Amino acid sequence: MRVFFLWRMESQPARCGRLPAGESQRATKKTLPRALRPAPRRGVAARNEEDPYPARCGRLPAGESQRATKKEHPMKKPFAPETIAAQAGGAIDAATGAIIPPIHLATTFERDPDNQYSKGYAYSRPDNPLTRQIEEVLCALEGGARAMVYGSGMAAATSAFLALERPAHVVAPSVMYWGLKKWLAEDAPSLGIRTTFVDGTSLDAIARAIEPGVTRMIWVETPANPMWGITDVRAAADLAHNAGAVLAVDSTVATPVLTQPIALGADVVMHSATKYLNGHSDVLAGALVLARTDAYADRAARIRGMLGAIIGPMEASLLLRGMRTLHLRVRHQSASALEIARHFARHPRIEAVLYPGLASDPGHAIAARQMTGGFSGMLSIRVKGGEEAAVRTAANVKLWKRATSLGGVESLVEHRASVEGPGTPCPADLLRLSVGLEAPVDLIADLEQALVANA
Ligand SMILES: Cc1ncc(COP(=O)(O)O)c(C=O)c1O
Repeated sequence: MRVFFLWRMESQPARCGRLPAGESQRATKKTLPRALRPAPRRGVAARNEEDPYPARCGRLPAGESQRATKKEHPMKKPFAPETIAAQAGGAIDAATGAIIPPIHLATTFERDPDNQYSKGYAYSRPDNPLTRQIEEVLCALEGGARAMVYGSGMAAATSAFLALERPAHVVAPSVMYWGLKKWLAEDAPSLGIRTTFVDGTSLDAIARAIEPGVTRMIWVETPANPMWGITDVRAAADLAHNAGAVLAVDSTVATPVLTQPIALGADVVMHSATKYLNGHSDVLAGALVLARTDAYADRAARIRGMLGAIIGPMEASLLLRGMRTLHLRVRHQSASALEIARHFARHPRIEAVLYPGLASDPGHAIAARQMTGGFSGMLSIRVKGGEEAAVRTAANVKLWKRATSLGGVESLVEHRASVEGPGTPCPADLLRLSVGLEAPVDLIADLEQALVANA
Protein backbone atom coordinates (compact mmCIF):
# COMPACT_ATOMS: atom_id res chain seq x y z
CA MET A 1 0.00 0.00 0.00
CA ARG A 2 1.21 3.47 -0.81
CA VAL A 3 0.02 6.36 1.22
CA PHE A 4 0.25 10.05 0.62
CA PHE A 5 2.32 12.04 3.00
CA LEU A 6 4.27 15.21 3.29
CA TRP A 7 7.97 14.94 3.00
CA ARG A 8 11.17 16.92 3.00
CA MET A 9 13.93 16.38 0.52
CA GLU A 10 17.32 15.61 1.93
CA SER A 11 19.37 18.73 1.48
CA GLN A 12 22.39 18.63 -0.76
CA PRO A 13 25.63 18.59 1.23
CA ALA A 14 27.33 21.97 0.95
CA ARG A 15 30.38 21.96 -1.30
CA CYS A 16 31.57 25.53 -0.95
CA GLY A 17 28.53 26.54 -2.95
CA ARG A 18 29.71 24.67 -6.08
CA LEU A 19 28.06 21.74 -7.63
CA PRO A 20 29.45 19.66 -10.44
CA ALA A 21 28.15 20.79 -13.80
CA GLY A 22 24.65 19.55 -14.45
CA GLU A 23 24.05 18.27 -10.95
CA SER A 24 22.12 21.28 -9.73
CA GLN A 25 19.24 20.56 -12.05
CA ARG A 26 19.12 16.90 -11.34
CA ALA A 27 16.48 15.25 -9.18
CA THR A 28 17.49 11.66 -9.27
CA LYS A 29 15.08 8.83 -8.71
CA LYS A 30 16.71 8.28 -5.36
CA THR A 31 16.33 11.83 -4.09
CA LEU A 32 12.72 12.32 -5.23
CA PRO A 33 10.18 12.03 -2.45
CA ARG A 34 8.51 8.69 -2.56
CA ALA A 35 5.10 10.14 -3.34
CA LEU A 36 6.42 11.72 -6.51
CA ARG A 37 8.92 9.13 -7.57
CA PRO A 38 8.19 7.96 -11.07
CA ALA A 39 6.30 4.72 -11.03
CA PRO A 40 8.37 1.86 -12.39
CA ARG A 41 7.99 1.48 -16.12
CA ARG A 42 6.35 -1.56 -17.46
CA GLY A 43 9.19 -3.14 -19.38
CA VAL A 44 12.43 -1.40 -18.92
CA ALA A 45 12.51 1.42 -21.36
CA ALA A 46 9.95 3.84 -22.69
CA ARG A 47 9.66 2.44 -26.17
CA ASN A 48 8.57 5.70 -27.70
CA GLU A 49 7.57 9.19 -26.71
CA GLU A 50 3.86 8.44 -26.98
CA ASP A 51 3.82 5.89 -24.23
CA PRO A 52 1.06 7.02 -21.88
CA TYR A 53 2.39 7.34 -18.40
CA PRO A 54 0.05 9.07 -15.97
CA ALA A 55 0.25 9.05 -12.21
CA ARG A 56 -0.65 5.86 -10.42
CA CYS A 57 -1.50 6.74 -6.92
CA GLY A 58 -1.54 4.33 -4.05
CA ARG A 59 -4.72 2.28 -3.84
CA LEU A 60 -5.89 3.03 -0.35
CA PRO A 61 -8.36 1.16 1.82
CA ALA A 62 -11.61 3.01 2.55
CA GLY A 63 -11.19 5.53 5.33
CA GLU A 64 -7.45 5.66 5.03
CA SER A 65 -7.41 7.47 1.75
CA GLN A 66 -6.34 10.78 3.18
CA ARG A 67 -4.18 9.65 6.02
CA ALA A 68 -0.59 8.71 6.31
CA THR A 69 -0.06 5.62 8.39
CA LYS A 70 1.84 5.69 11.65
CA LYS A 71 4.43 3.35 10.23
CA GLU A 72 5.17 5.27 7.08
CA HIS A 73 4.88 8.85 8.18
CA PRO A 74 8.06 10.31 9.63
CA MET A 75 6.14 12.50 12.08
CA LYS A 76 3.91 9.62 13.12
CA LYS A 77 0.90 11.82 12.56
CA PRO A 78 -1.82 11.63 9.93
CA PHE A 79 -2.41 14.73 7.84
CA ALA A 80 -5.80 16.19 7.04
CA PRO A 81 -6.78 16.85 3.41
CA GLU A 82 -6.38 20.62 3.79
CA THR A 83 -2.83 20.06 5.00
CA ILE A 84 -2.03 18.02 1.90
CA ALA A 85 -3.68 20.62 -0.35
CA ALA A 86 -2.02 23.60 1.36
CA GLN A 87 1.44 22.16 0.73
CA ALA A 88 0.52 20.70 -2.67
CA GLY A 89 1.70 17.37 -1.31
CA GLY A 90 4.67 18.89 0.46
CA ALA A 91 7.23 18.52 -2.29
CA ILE A 92 10.47 20.47 -2.00
CA ASP A 93 12.40 20.88 -5.24
CA ALA A 94 15.37 18.54 -5.09
CA ALA A 95 17.73 20.79 -7.01
CA THR A 96 17.12 24.11 -5.25
CA GLY A 97 15.13 23.57 -2.09
CA ALA A 98 12.32 25.70 -3.54
CA ILE A 99 9.04 25.06 -1.77
CA ILE A 100 7.11 25.91 -4.93
CA PRO A 101 7.78 23.41 -7.71
CA PRO A 102 9.49 24.65 -10.88
CA ILE A 103 7.62 24.86 -14.18
CA HIS A 104 9.29 22.48 -16.60
CA LEU A 105 8.53 23.79 -20.06
CA ALA A 106 10.49 21.00 -21.75
CA THR A 107 8.51 18.97 -24.23
CA THR A 108 11.20 16.32 -24.39
CA PHE A 109 13.47 14.62 -21.88
CA GLU A 110 16.92 13.11 -22.31
CA ARG A 111 17.23 9.39 -22.87
CA ASP A 112 19.91 7.58 -20.89
CA PRO A 113 23.00 6.14 -22.68
CA ASP A 114 21.62 2.66 -22.04
CA ASN A 115 18.46 3.65 -23.95
CA GLN A 116 16.28 3.95 -20.84
CA TYR A 117 14.25 6.84 -19.46
CA SER A 118 15.19 6.21 -15.87
CA LYS A 119 13.83 9.57 -14.68
CA GLY A 120 10.39 8.54 -15.86
CA TYR A 121 9.70 11.21 -18.46
CA ALA A 122 10.12 10.98 -22.23
CA TYR A 123 7.77 13.48 -23.88
CA SER A 124 5.34 15.94 -22.33
CA ARG A 125 2.20 14.91 -24.22
CA PRO A 126 1.51 11.76 -22.22
CA ASP A 127 2.92 13.04 -18.92
CA ASN A 128 4.95 15.80 -17.35
CA PRO A 129 6.28 16.59 -13.86
CA LEU A 130 3.81 19.19 -12.54
CA THR A 131 0.86 17.25 -13.86
CA ARG A 132 2.02 14.24 -11.91
CA GLN A 133 2.23 16.30 -8.72
CA ILE A 134 -1.35 17.54 -9.16
CA GLU A 135 -2.48 13.97 -9.78
CA GLU A 136 -0.88 12.77 -6.56
CA VAL A 137 -2.67 15.49 -4.60
CA LEU A 138 -5.99 14.72 -6.29
CA CYS A 139 -5.61 11.01 -5.57
CA ALA A 140 -5.05 11.85 -1.92
CA LEU A 141 -8.02 14.22 -1.71
CA GLU A 142 -10.41 11.89 -3.53
CA GLY A 143 -9.11 8.58 -2.21
CA GLY A 144 -8.36 7.43 -5.76
CA ALA A 145 -5.89 4.97 -7.19
CA ARG A 146 -5.03 6.93 -10.31
CA ALA A 147 -5.63 10.43 -11.60
CA MET A 148 -5.27 12.22 -14.90
CA VAL A 149 -5.28 15.97 -15.37
CA TYR A 150 -6.47 17.51 -18.64
CA GLY A 151 -6.53 20.82 -20.46
CA SER A 152 -10.25 21.29 -19.69
CA GLY A 153 -13.17 19.70 -17.91
CA MET A 154 -14.66 18.71 -21.25
CA ALA A 155 -11.43 16.96 -22.23
CA ALA A 156 -11.63 14.99 -18.98
CA ALA A 157 -15.34 14.19 -19.29
CA THR A 158 -15.27 13.15 -22.93
CA SER A 159 -12.21 10.98 -22.24
CA ALA A 160 -14.18 9.18 -19.53
CA PHE A 161 -16.72 8.16 -22.18
CA LEU A 162 -14.20 7.49 -24.94
CA ALA A 163 -12.44 4.99 -22.68
CA LEU A 164 -15.57 2.80 -22.52
CA GLU A 165 -15.62 -0.42 -24.52
CA ARG A 166 -17.95 -0.28 -27.53
CA PRO A 167 -20.74 -0.45 -28.24
CA ALA A 168 -21.48 1.55 -25.12
CA HIS A 169 -24.79 2.47 -23.59
CA VAL A 170 -24.75 5.16 -20.93
CA VAL A 171 -27.39 6.49 -18.53
CA ALA A 172 -27.03 10.21 -17.81
CA PRO A 173 -29.15 12.91 -16.18
CA SER A 174 -31.41 15.16 -18.23
CA VAL A 175 -30.27 18.08 -16.07
CA MET A 176 -26.49 18.25 -16.18
CA TYR A 177 -23.71 20.48 -17.50
CA TRP A 178 -25.26 21.41 -20.85
CA GLY A 179 -22.06 21.29 -22.91
CA LEU A 180 -21.42 17.67 -22.01
CA LYS A 181 -25.06 16.77 -22.52
CA LYS A 182 -24.88 18.30 -26.00
CA TRP A 183 -21.75 16.25 -26.79
CA LEU A 184 -23.42 13.06 -25.55
CA ALA A 185 -26.56 13.76 -27.55
CA GLU A 186 -25.01 15.03 -30.77
CA ASP A 187 -21.42 13.76 -31.09
CA ALA A 188 -21.05 10.62 -29.02
CA PRO A 189 -23.51 8.42 -31.00
CA SER A 190 -21.24 8.46 -34.06
CA LEU A 191 -18.45 7.22 -31.78
CA GLY A 192 -20.49 4.22 -30.64
CA ILE A 193 -21.74 5.79 -27.40
CA ARG A 194 -25.51 5.90 -26.95
CA THR A 195 -27.06 7.76 -24.02
CA THR A 196 -30.43 7.55 -22.30
CA PHE A 197 -31.21 10.75 -20.39
CA VAL A 198 -33.32 10.42 -17.25
CA ASP A 199 -34.20 12.34 -14.11
CA GLY A 200 -30.87 12.02 -12.32
CA THR A 201 -32.41 12.59 -8.90
CA SER A 202 -34.64 9.49 -9.30
CA LEU A 203 -33.04 6.13 -8.61
CA ASP A 204 -36.12 4.45 -10.11
CA ALA A 205 -35.65 6.36 -13.36
CA ILE A 206 -31.97 5.42 -13.46
CA ALA A 207 -32.77 1.77 -12.73
CA ARG A 208 -35.43 1.65 -15.48
CA ALA A 209 -33.00 3.07 -18.04
CA ILE A 210 -30.33 0.44 -17.42
CA GLU A 211 -30.05 -2.11 -20.21
CA PRO A 212 -28.63 -5.25 -18.57
CA GLY A 213 -25.40 -6.38 -20.18
CA VAL A 214 -25.39 -3.34 -22.47
CA THR A 215 -25.14 -0.34 -20.13
CA ARG A 216 -21.50 0.36 -19.39
CA MET A 217 -21.70 3.56 -17.37
CA ILE A 218 -24.07 5.56 -15.19
CA TRP A 219 -23.05 9.22 -15.21
CA VAL A 220 -24.31 11.52 -12.48
CA GLU A 221 -23.66 15.11 -11.56
CA THR A 222 -24.33 16.09 -7.97
CA PRO A 223 -25.25 18.84 -7.20
CA ALA A 224 -26.35 19.17 -10.84
CA ASN A 225 -26.17 22.30 -12.94
CA PRO A 226 -28.18 24.55 -12.80
CA MET A 227 -30.99 23.36 -10.51
CA TRP A 228 -28.69 21.63 -8.01
CA GLY A 229 -30.58 18.35 -7.87
CA ILE A 230 -28.91 15.71 -5.70
CA THR A 231 -28.21 12.09 -6.63
CA ASP A 232 -27.61 9.46 -3.97
CA VAL A 233 -24.11 8.37 -5.01
CA ARG A 234 -24.01 5.23 -2.88
CA ALA A 235 -27.34 3.97 -4.24
CA ALA A 236 -26.40 4.88 -7.83
CA ALA A 237 -23.13 2.96 -7.42
CA ASP A 238 -25.08 -0.11 -6.29
CA LEU A 239 -27.34 0.16 -9.34
CA ALA A 240 -24.34 0.45 -11.64
CA HIS A 241 -22.40 -2.40 -10.11
CA ASN A 242 -25.41 -4.75 -10.07
CA ALA A 243 -25.67 -4.14 -13.81
CA GLY A 244 -21.96 -4.69 -14.42
CA ALA A 245 -21.49 -0.99 -15.18
CA VAL A 246 -19.38 1.73 -13.60
CA LEU A 247 -20.55 4.87 -11.82
CA ALA A 248 -18.98 8.15 -12.88
CA VAL A 249 -19.63 11.34 -10.90
CA ASP A 250 -19.15 14.89 -12.10
CA SER A 251 -18.15 16.28 -8.72
CA THR A 252 -17.12 19.71 -9.98
CA VAL A 253 -19.54 21.57 -7.71
CA ALA A 254 -19.16 19.41 -4.61
CA THR A 255 -15.35 19.28 -4.83
CA PRO A 256 -13.42 16.75 -2.70
CA VAL A 257 -13.93 19.14 0.21
CA LEU A 258 -17.65 18.36 0.43
CA THR A 259 -18.00 14.88 -1.12
CA GLN A 260 -15.68 11.99 -1.87
CA PRO A 261 -17.62 9.88 -4.37
CA ILE A 262 -15.08 7.01 -4.42
CA ALA A 263 -15.64 6.39 -0.70
CA LEU A 264 -19.37 6.15 -1.56
CA GLY A 265 -18.74 3.53 -4.25
CA ALA A 266 -18.09 5.57 -7.40
CA ASP A 267 -15.55 4.30 -9.92
CA VAL A 268 -14.75 7.52 -11.72
CA VAL A 269 -14.74 11.10 -10.42
CA MET A 270 -14.60 13.97 -12.89
CA HIS A 271 -13.83 17.63 -12.21
CA SER A 272 -13.88 20.72 -14.30
CA ALA A 273 -10.80 21.99 -12.47
CA THR A 274 -11.51 25.32 -14.19
CA LYS A 275 -13.98 25.85 -11.35
CA TYR A 276 -13.33 25.33 -7.64
CA LEU A 277 -10.10 23.31 -7.84
CA ASN A 278 -8.34 26.25 -9.45
CA GLY A 279 -10.77 28.78 -8.05
CA HIS A 280 -9.51 31.99 -9.66
CA SER A 281 -11.19 32.02 -13.08
CA ASP A 282 -7.84 32.03 -14.85
CA VAL A 283 -7.15 28.41 -15.86
CA LEU A 284 -8.97 25.87 -18.02
CA ALA A 285 -8.39 22.40 -16.62
CA GLY A 286 -10.05 19.08 -15.92
CA ALA A 287 -9.39 15.88 -14.03
CA LEU A 288 -10.42 12.26 -13.77
CA VAL A 289 -9.76 10.36 -10.56
CA LEU A 290 -10.23 6.61 -10.80
CA ALA A 291 -10.91 4.11 -8.05
CA ARG A 292 -8.78 1.41 -9.68
CA THR A 293 -5.78 0.95 -11.90
CA ASP A 294 -7.38 -1.34 -14.45
CA ALA A 295 -7.90 -1.73 -18.19
CA TYR A 296 -10.36 1.19 -18.23
CA ALA A 297 -7.72 3.41 -16.58
CA ASP A 298 -5.13 2.29 -19.12
CA ARG A 299 -7.46 3.14 -22.00
CA ALA A 300 -8.17 6.58 -20.50
CA ALA A 301 -4.44 7.21 -20.11
CA ARG A 302 -3.78 6.10 -23.66
CA ILE A 303 -6.50 8.39 -25.01
CA ARG A 304 -5.07 11.38 -23.14
CA GLY A 305 -1.60 10.65 -24.42
CA MET A 306 -2.71 10.11 -27.99
CA LEU A 307 -5.02 13.12 -28.19
CA GLY A 308 -2.65 15.39 -26.30
CA ALA A 309 -5.46 16.40 -23.96
CA ILE A 310 -3.06 16.94 -21.07
CA ILE A 311 -2.83 20.28 -19.24
CA GLY A 312 0.15 22.49 -20.15
CA PRO A 313 2.88 23.21 -17.58
CA MET A 314 2.00 26.90 -17.05
CA GLU A 315 -1.65 26.10 -16.40
CA ALA A 316 -0.61 23.17 -14.21
CA SER A 317 1.44 25.53 -12.07
CA LEU A 318 -1.50 27.90 -11.62
CA LEU A 319 -3.84 25.01 -10.86
CA LEU A 320 -1.53 23.61 -8.21
CA ARG A 321 -1.35 27.04 -6.60
CA GLY A 322 -5.12 27.42 -6.64
CA MET A 323 -5.61 24.02 -5.05
CA ARG A 324 -3.59 25.07 -2.00
CA THR A 325 -6.53 27.21 -0.80
CA LEU A 326 -9.31 24.87 -1.95
CA HIS A 327 -10.64 23.97 1.49
CA LEU A 328 -10.65 27.51 2.79
CA ARG A 329 -12.43 28.81 -0.28
CA VAL A 330 -15.05 26.08 -0.59
CA ARG A 331 -16.03 26.18 3.08
CA HIS A 332 -16.33 29.96 3.01
CA GLN A 333 -18.28 29.96 -0.27
CA SER A 334 -20.62 27.24 1.03
CA ALA A 335 -21.35 29.20 4.22
CA SER A 336 -22.00 32.38 2.23
CA ALA A 337 -24.26 30.56 -0.25
CA LEU A 338 -26.31 29.16 2.61
CA GLU A 339 -26.69 32.64 4.11
CA ILE A 340 -27.77 34.06 0.75
CA ALA A 341 -30.17 31.14 0.10
CA ARG A 342 -31.81 31.61 3.51
CA HIS A 343 -32.12 35.35 3.00
CA PHE A 344 -33.94 35.04 -0.31
CA ALA A 345 -35.95 31.89 0.48
CA ARG A 346 -39.05 33.88 1.46
CA HIS A 347 -38.40 37.02 -0.54
CA PRO A 348 -41.46 38.70 -2.09
CA ARG A 349 -39.77 39.06 -5.50
CA ILE A 350 -38.37 35.53 -5.61
CA GLU A 351 -40.42 32.56 -6.77
CA ALA A 352 -38.04 29.93 -5.43
CA VAL A 353 -34.47 29.42 -4.22
CA LEU A 354 -32.84 26.22 -5.42
CA TYR A 355 -30.16 25.11 -2.97
CA PRO A 356 -29.68 21.69 -1.35
CA GLY A 357 -28.63 23.38 1.90
CA LEU A 358 -32.21 24.55 2.51
CA ALA A 359 -34.17 22.09 4.65
CA SER A 360 -37.11 22.53 2.25
CA ASP A 361 -35.06 21.45 -0.80
CA PRO A 362 -36.06 18.02 -2.22
CA GLY A 363 -32.41 16.89 -2.20
CA HIS A 364 -31.62 18.13 1.30
CA ALA A 365 -31.82 14.82 3.18
CA ILE A 366 -29.46 13.01 0.80
CA ALA A 367 -27.16 16.03 0.52
CA ALA A 368 -26.95 16.25 4.31
CA ARG A 369 -25.86 12.61 4.34
CA GLN A 370 -23.31 12.61 1.54
CA MET A 371 -21.94 16.16 1.69
CA THR A 372 -19.82 17.13 4.65
CA GLY A 373 -19.02 20.67 5.70
CA GLY A 374 -21.42 22.50 3.39
CA PHE A 375 -23.67 22.34 0.36
CA SER A 376 -21.47 24.19 -2.16
CA GLY A 377 -21.19 27.77 -3.29
CA MET A 378 -23.75 27.34 -6.09
CA LEU A 379 -27.43 28.23 -5.92
CA SER A 380 -30.13 29.47 -8.27
CA ILE A 381 -33.01 31.87 -7.79
CA ARG A 382 -36.21 31.97 -9.81
CA VAL A 383 -37.33 35.56 -10.19
CA LYS A 384 -41.04 36.44 -10.05
CA GLY A 385 -42.12 37.92 -13.38
CA GLY A 386 -40.51 35.34 -15.64
CA GLU A 387 -37.63 35.61 -18.09
CA GLU A 388 -37.82 39.35 -18.57
CA ALA A 389 -37.68 40.04 -14.84
CA ALA A 390 -34.78 37.61 -14.42
CA VAL A 391 -32.74 39.16 -17.23
CA ARG A 392 -33.46 42.68 -15.89
CA THR A 393 -32.39 41.66 -12.39
CA ALA A 394 -29.09 40.41 -13.78
CA ALA A 395 -28.73 43.68 -15.69
CA ASN A 396 -29.17 45.67 -12.45
CA VAL A 397 -26.40 44.07 -10.35
CA LYS A 398 -23.41 46.24 -9.56
CA LEU A 399 -21.20 43.92 -7.50
CA TRP A 400 -21.99 40.47 -8.92
CA LYS A 401 -20.39 39.96 -12.33
CA ARG A 402 -22.61 38.93 -15.24
CA ALA A 403 -20.57 36.04 -16.58
CA THR A 404 -20.66 32.33 -17.21
CA SER A 405 -18.62 29.72 -15.29
CA LEU A 406 -18.46 29.18 -11.55
CA GLY A 407 -16.24 28.46 -8.57
CA GLY A 408 -14.05 31.58 -8.67
CA VAL A 409 -13.36 34.02 -5.86
CA GLU A 410 -15.60 36.65 -7.48
CA SER A 411 -19.36 36.16 -7.46
CA LEU A 412 -21.07 35.56 -10.80
CA VAL A 413 -24.68 35.78 -11.92
CA GLU A 414 -25.98 34.24 -15.12
CA HIS A 415 -29.29 33.90 -16.91
CA ARG A 416 -28.70 30.26 -17.62
CA ALA A 417 -31.47 29.61 -20.17
CA SER A 418 -29.89 32.20 -22.48
CA VAL A 419 -26.67 30.18 -22.45
CA GLU A 420 -28.24 26.76 -22.90
CA GLY A 421 -30.65 27.84 -25.67
CA PRO A 422 -33.73 26.09 -27.06
CA GLY A 423 -34.60 22.74 -25.53
CA THR A 424 -32.98 23.48 -22.17
CA PRO A 425 -34.70 22.07 -19.10
CA CYS A 426 -33.59 25.22 -17.27
CA PRO A 427 -36.54 27.49 -16.37
CA ALA A 428 -36.53 30.86 -18.16
CA ASP A 429 -36.86 32.78 -14.88
CA LEU A 430 -33.71 31.21 -13.35
CA LEU A 431 -30.55 33.09 -12.43
CA ARG A 432 -27.55 30.96 -11.52
CA LEU A 433 -25.41 32.35 -8.73
CA SER A 434 -21.79 31.38 -8.12
CA VAL A 435 -20.89 32.76 -4.70
CA GLY A 436 -17.36 34.06 -4.32
CA LEU A 437 -15.40 35.30 -1.36
CA GLU A 438 -16.98 38.73 -0.96
CA ALA A 439 -18.84 39.51 2.27
CA PRO A 440 -22.32 37.95 2.05
CA VAL A 441 -23.83 41.18 3.37
CA ASP A 442 -22.56 43.03 0.26
CA LEU A 443 -23.75 40.30 -2.10
CA ILE A 444 -27.21 40.26 -0.50
CA ALA A 445 -27.48 44.07 -0.61
CA ASP A 446 -26.54 44.12 -4.29
CA LEU A 447 -29.13 41.50 -5.22
CA GLU A 448 -31.74 43.30 -3.13
CA GLN A 449 -31.20 46.56 -4.98
CA ALA A 450 -31.21 44.71 -8.31
CA LEU A 451 -34.58 43.15 -7.50
CA VAL A 452 -36.02 46.49 -6.34
CA ALA A 453 -34.69 48.34 -9.39
CA ASN A 454 -36.44 45.72 -11.45
CA ALA A 455 -39.90 46.40 -9.94
C1 LIG B 1 -20.36 20.78 -13.84
C2 LIG B 1 -19.46 21.01 -15.02
N1 LIG B 1 -18.85 19.95 -15.57
C3 LIG B 1 -18.02 20.11 -16.64
C4 LIG B 1 -17.79 21.35 -17.19
C5 LIG B 1 -16.85 21.50 -18.37
O1 LIG B 1 -15.66 22.05 -17.90
P1 LIG B 1 -14.66 22.98 -18.77
O2 LIG B 1 -15.38 24.25 -19.07
O3 LIG B 1 -13.49 23.12 -17.86
O4 LIG B 1 -14.34 22.22 -20.02
C6 LIG B 1 -18.41 22.47 -16.64
C7 LIG B 1 -18.17 23.82 -17.24
O5 LIG B 1 -18.91 24.75 -17.01
C8 LIG B 1 -19.27 22.30 -15.52
O6 LIG B 1 -19.89 23.35 -14.95
